[in-house]
Amino acid sequence: MERLQKILAKAGIASRRKAEDLILAGRVSVDDEVITTLGYVVKKGSIVKFDGKKVEGENKVYYLLHKPKKTICSLKDEHDRKTVVDLIQSNERIFPVGRLDYDTSGVLILTNDGEFSNEMTHPRFHLPKTYEVKIDGVLSTAEIKLLEKGITLDDGTVTLPAKLWVTSKDLSKKTTDFELTIQEGKNRQIKRMMEALNYNVTRLHRSKLAFIECKDLKPGEYRRLKPFEVKQLRELANNGVLK
Ligand code: URA
Repeated sequence: MERLQKILAKAGIASRRKAEDLILAGRVSVDDEVITTLGYVVKKGSIVKFDGKKVEGENKVYYLLHKPKKTICSLKDEHDRKTVVDLIQSNERIFPVGRLDYDTSGVLILTNDGEFSNEMTHPRFHLPKTYEVKIDGVLSTAEIKLLEKGITLDDGTVTLPAKLWVTSKDLSKKTTDFELTIQEGKNRQIKRMMEALNYNVTRLHRSKLAFIECKDLKPGEYRRLKPFEVKQLRELANNGVLK
């Protein structure tokens, strides 16, 4: 059972707000009866028509892309740079779930399912995201503790606890490589965490989103997410655990 305006919005006919106007204008019927009541709940199996034509549910698709560097996560770019959507051959109107910067590579999910995207980006329970990071400096133990505990960003917000694992330190080149698992997805979060300590990020790769990894894919390659992966991501975002 679903509300009429939601069905119209999901089918890509109009936004929920515009769908309400279409309903009020008498252009929508359920089982051949014109419905002009907002919030009307449609029973399972009922036939919804818009201007006399059957409304089909949009086929939901979910892709995992190994995002290469030098691609952007918006649908169009004013400078004509390649977008992540350009890399995927799909007949559906897909968009990226969340964002990775132009120079960041790694796990990125694309879908045409707006509800799934909302669940992933505004989860009730934070989905862990692991990044491989390289910076132009040598992290001290005190700095590592601070990053793990929560660090104050340029806008005054404090990050949630994180996990940091140093994989290599080069004292002569003055660089550190590490894995950092964060729970949130604030805009440019890792770079801003490092900027708070006066370091620059020189390499950034998202190796994991919850349990999803892309090491079997080359940069630019993609695959469909398996139905169980979509289901488990939803469960983690909504309940915090797998049932
Ligand atoms: N943090 C960043 O700074 N950039 C990204 O692309 C992802 C996380």
